[in-house]
Amino acid sequence: MLHGKTILLIIGGGIAAYKSLELIRELKKRGAGVRCILTKAATQFVTPLSVAALSGEKVYDDLFSLTDEVEMGHIQLSRSADLLVVAPATADLMARMAQGQAGDLAATTLLATDKRVLIAPAMNVRMWNHPATQRNLAVLKGDGVSMVGPNEGDMACGEYGPGRMAEPAEIAAAIEAELVGQGAPKPLAGRHVLVTSGPTHEPIDPVRYIANRSSGKQGHAIAAAAAAAGARVTLVSGPVAIPAPAGVTLVPVETARQMLSAVEAALPADIAIFAAAVADWRAASEAGGKIKKGSGAAPALSLVENPDILATIARRGSGRPALVVGFAAETEKLAEHATAKLARKGCDLIVANDVSLSGSGIAGGVMGSEANAVHLVSSSGVVSWPVMSKDEVAARLIAHLAALGADWT
Ligand code: PMT
Repeated sequence: MLHGKTILLIIGGGIAAYKSLELIRELKKRGAGVRCILTKAATQFVTPLSVAALSGEKVYDDLFSLTDEVEMGHIQLSRSADLLVVAPATADLMARMAQGQAGDLAATTLLATDKRVLIAPAMNVRMWNHPATQRNLAVLKGDGVSMVGPNEGDMACGEYGPGRMAEPAEIAAAIEAELVGQGAPKPLAGRHVLVTSGPTHEPIDPVRYIANRSSGKQGHAIAAAAAAAGARVTLVSGPVAIPAPAGVTLVPVETARQMLSAVEAALPADIAIFAAAVADWRAASEAGGKIKKGSGAAPALSLVENPDILATIARRGSGRPALVVGFAAETEKLAEHATAKLARKGCDLIVANDVSLSGSGIAGGVMGSEANAVHLVSSSGVVSWPVMSKDEVAARLIAHLAALGADWT
């Protein structure tokens, strides 16, 4: 799959660097040429000699090497590859990339490149979850950097959680996906895809609201995948902490009723995908001022049902998108409940996810996590996919919907 392709592998200084040696073998096995840059810290974990022996190429580690600059300057190094891969992408490297620093050969090369960049983060779970790392990640994603992993599991430091570098075979597959996608036909070119994402916030008074834990990761990933497939994408999103993917039109909303208006205003669309976790209920009336603690009983909260956005659009007579896709957040009897939902809402496909993900090993459930396990429920039956990253769910879902495109009018 990678014959004729050159990968510039930047190895950061982390314990996961040993896996990068296996990654070099994996890439060479698939036919790629591999050139490597080591950061100074990386040389504490793997030796330039092992990297050179496995890659069969000279290893670069010095920005100010006279010989290297004469043979192949760092600018040429950054542009001679088809793809730049940072593995392991340490917290430090990610921070320097997000800031556009150019203090060593690795950072300078990343700044000087005109090629796509894929990172495979690896770090301690607390470092990964730290707001600074998540901020840097959001910046990098906004800059168009792709990511594979990190996986969840036992860490070298003895802790458990997300932060393990993806396995070499997974990184190689992600590299293939990046490169095979380049110059490939865009199956959704000329189509308009509408996506809802994130939670809704339903006000109780000026300072309080009803909400849920949706992060917007799944919906935003679908918007990104649709844009990558060539579609014009409108992303109607509730309040989330992640940026809109590059190349999509974001319509930010807060409440379910605003989301419905924004969705209706965005029509017509060829495909509408409802990944938002819309609050089923809102407060019957929003208090004009902050509700005060009184001496009596706690105030009663009276709720009324929100409009069902998915059902409203799926049951439209004229202007109904050719494909209407709903999500189902379930905790049990997934297929059974999703099949009932398919009929009740009148949509073409339900993507059912077990939001508790009991027994799947995803801590905290689907909402907010990086992974998802879904079942596609339609009138033709149920197709189940294993646990995978939300980006992968998105890419596969968009490919699935694009393949149904032959039946569109
Ligand atoms: O955002 P993340 O943290 O990445 O998490 C992703 C997710 C779990 C939120 C997402 O994958 C998901 O399952 N979204 C749908 C959650 C949900 O609200 O499920 P539901 O079973 O309550 O609703 C079924 C469908 O009707 C959904 O498509 C929903 O968008 C839609 N709906 C629900 C209520 C309503 N008033 N209007 C709607 O359009």
